Amino acid sequence: MIIRALKWTDNAVELLDQTQLPVKTEYLRMTNYLDIADAIRKLKVRGAPAIGIAAAYGLCLAAFEAVAEQKNDFLARLEKASRTLAATRPTAVNLFWALERMKAVLKHEISKPVKEICDILLQEAHAIAREDEEMCRKISGHGAEVLKDGDTVLTHCNTGALATGGMGTALGVIYAAVQQGKKIRVFVDETRPLLQGARLTAFELQQANIDATLICDNMAAFVMKRQKVNAIFVGADRIARNGDTANKIGTYSLAVLAKFHQVPFYVVAPTSTIDLQRASGEEIPIEERKPEEITHGFGRQTAPADIAVYNPAFDITPAELITGIITENGIHRHPFKF
Ligand code: MRU
Repeated sequence: MIIRALKWTDNAVELLDQTQLPVKTEYLRMTNYLDIADAIRKLKVRGAPAIGIAAAYGLCLAAFEAVAEQKNDFLARLEKASRTLAATRPTAVNLFWALERMKAVLKHEISKPVKEICDILLQEAHAIAREDEEMCRKISGHGAEVLKDGDTVLTHCNTGALATGGMGTALGVIYAAVQQGKKIRVFVDETRPLLQGARLTAFELQQANIDATLICDNMAAFVMKRQKVNAIFVGADRIARNGDTANKIGTYSLAVLAKFHQVPFYVVAPTSTIDLQRASGEEIPIEERKPEEITHGFGRQTAPADIAVYNPAFDITPAELITGIITENGIHRHPFKF
């Protein structure tokens, strides 16, 4: 059974607080869209597809909070909520994609009574979550085709059930291959500074009984040199028209290492992560997070006070370093056309 990052239940969002994993599995009940915005900002819910789903449900919470308002006030409240949710994190395009989709439905149904609009918006958020689950299933099936029994793969950050509405993207590929009866060994990058690999991917793989070995990010080159790594699978937060891919910081270095060691490097993501408005990675906004994530990782001071810190949460992997981009439509190869 796959773990759920979030779900709508009894007029509220039940959201797994991922900042507490792997030590504590605590679901938070949220009835206010501001709590959802805060959860996205603080990475209680994270991973591009899960952020999109959370934002869609966040907008539903804002709608139900304003259900007794006159139409104009109701619309103004929704516009404000949408702007607040959009301002939480800049890189994962699924956030904006999901909000735009919700707003398009709102525009289409604007003549209906407020209560009816609320119900229609909720149906749309459910559809976004359901479709993501289906896309994960298809993506994972396509990706599993490139894996053979006995292969060893390396992955970065967390791209599993915790990051999506279904079985995951890059991690979903591994789940699907294992479900097909293939024996797969996985090296898990710990993923500094917030350790999504160590805290979340290692946790998911252990729960699924998959052969997983945790490494520090700076060990990846040596692992590729000394161990046979057959393929690398990573997720994406935004893919530009030319295939340049924004993903968790450290992805770009892995792609460079993969080229040197001749290891195939796959990006795995739903089409909701492709941003056709951006011609290349140069145009993708990169989130910078606070210095304390590096100087005080998980509470303890590990650097001198006031040291200058640069903390980009994502990097851009140039398309030329990517062997294939796996979406629900199949495996895209060079030259990338979506
Ligand atoms: O900062 P995070 O944890 O939200 O970053 C997540 C990633 O970079 C994932 O690789 C990406 O969102 C794809 S999740 C299927």
